[in-house]
Amino acid sequence: MSTGVEPQQVLARAREVVSSCTGFRDTAISPTAVDRVVRAELARGRSAAELMAELQRPGTPLARALLDAVLVGETYFFRHPEQFRFLASEAVPAALRRGNLVLRGWSAGCASGEETYSIAACLLGMAPPGVRVEVLGTDLHEGRLEYARRGTYGNWSRREAGPLLYPLYHDIAEGRVSVMDNVRAVTRFAQGNLLEPLAESFGSFDVIFCRNVLTYFSPDAVQTALGHLARALVPGGFLLLGTVEVDHPPAGLVRVGAPELQAFRRPMPQEQVPPPRPAYREPEPVRVAMRVPPPPARTPPPAPAPAPSPVRLHLEALQSIEGGDAAGAASTLEKLLEQFRDYIPGMLELALLRERAGAREAAFALMHTVRDIAARLPPDLIIQGPEPLPARFYRASADAFLTLGAIE
Ligand SMILES: C[S@@+](CC[C@H](N)C(=O)[O-])C[C@H]1O[C@@H](n2cnc3c(N)ncnc32)[C@H](O)[C@@H]1O
Repeated sequence: MSTGVEPQQVLARAREVVSSCTGFRDTAISPTAVDRVVRAELARGRSAAELMAELQRPGTPLARALLDAVLVGETYFFRHPEQFRFLASEAVPAALRRGNLVLRGWSAGCASGEETYSIAACLLGMAPPGVRVEVLGTDLHEGRLEYARRGTYGNWSRREAGPLLYPLYHDIAEGRVSVMDNVRAVTRFAQGNLLEPLAESFGSFDVIFCRNVLTYFSPDAVQTALGHLARALVPGGFLLLGTVEVDHPPAGLVRVGAPELQAFRRPMPQEQVPPPRPAYREPEPVRVAMRVPPPPARTPPPAPAPAPSPVRLHLEALQSIEGGDAAGAASTLEKLLEQFRDYIPGMLELALLRERAGAREAAFALMHTVRDIAARLPPDLIIQGPEPLPARFYRASADAFLTLGAIE
């Protein structure tokens, strides 16, 4: 007896289900994967009408089988290493400057967990004593999360394209590694769909990696997911996306670094609105006085302009950076350092600018000086910069920068 439902209709409905659960655009859904799942069900003797009815309900075993079949889980340790270098050289120092006692990372769309553990290893490598690390990995695919929680991997997770930037695993057998206990201890995994906001109980993050996920999404789904990601960042936190996933900064975020870095920052509340410039006002029209006015009160002579302080010049440089004028910022910092030769906050800033501009040697020379000066100071001595920070912060930042460069 014909039920009036054709297998082609089931296939079409299956694609709709996949698309609405994942956010994938239709062309990113593998027809062979969907076909395989539906044909397997038909081969088990189920009718097309039965499958169609199951596909009208959310979260059924058939819907899960379809998701498992279409979700691509390609990943490996320290994939796109330049983004981990950015994490170490920019995002972590920024979080420490905000006074964080915990560094929090989220790997959104973590697949089997290699990215999550890589973030955890990097944060652990960068955290000064007394600063904790917490990293969350989420994915839609429960099977991959189970694999991630086991924390043992084969050679496919370690590729040349992903250099081991921080200690992360140890060998357990030929071609098998296990994630180190200290890295596991700060990492946890949970199921989560990027089309929905992350549960508030997970808190907010200093850095979010969401890479090679949005590339499959429809334009609407990309916007939905970006909104959830941006809202999960702390002010001053960073979002790192895959290489070609967006061509504009997500709403509410600003681009940082070169476009190919795909790094975006949530501004601090005071940065949301650019500092108001004093508006130009037309002079008041001169009124003809009918009476002789009283003599003007004596006004005190104007106070002499304050001498430029290193912090004031440093803030000027930061404003240039925010305004996209890296060259202007570098020249302000150079002038600053001519006047205040030991001002290590400015030296660190200039080193990072040099590194971003590709002038590695100059960046290294500056970082060596930062380290040497900081090493001669008492570690807890507070250095006045845009934010007061102890000398040990500058030493740790320079050490991390120089060590990373050496591993490379
Ligand atoms: C190609 S892997 C990327 C893994 C890792 N981020 C990396 O770049 O190495 C994409 C992951 O995104 C997950 N994914 C796809 N759509 C998702 C969604 N709507 N919500 C959460 N995860 C999703 C997939 O299950 C898959 O594990």
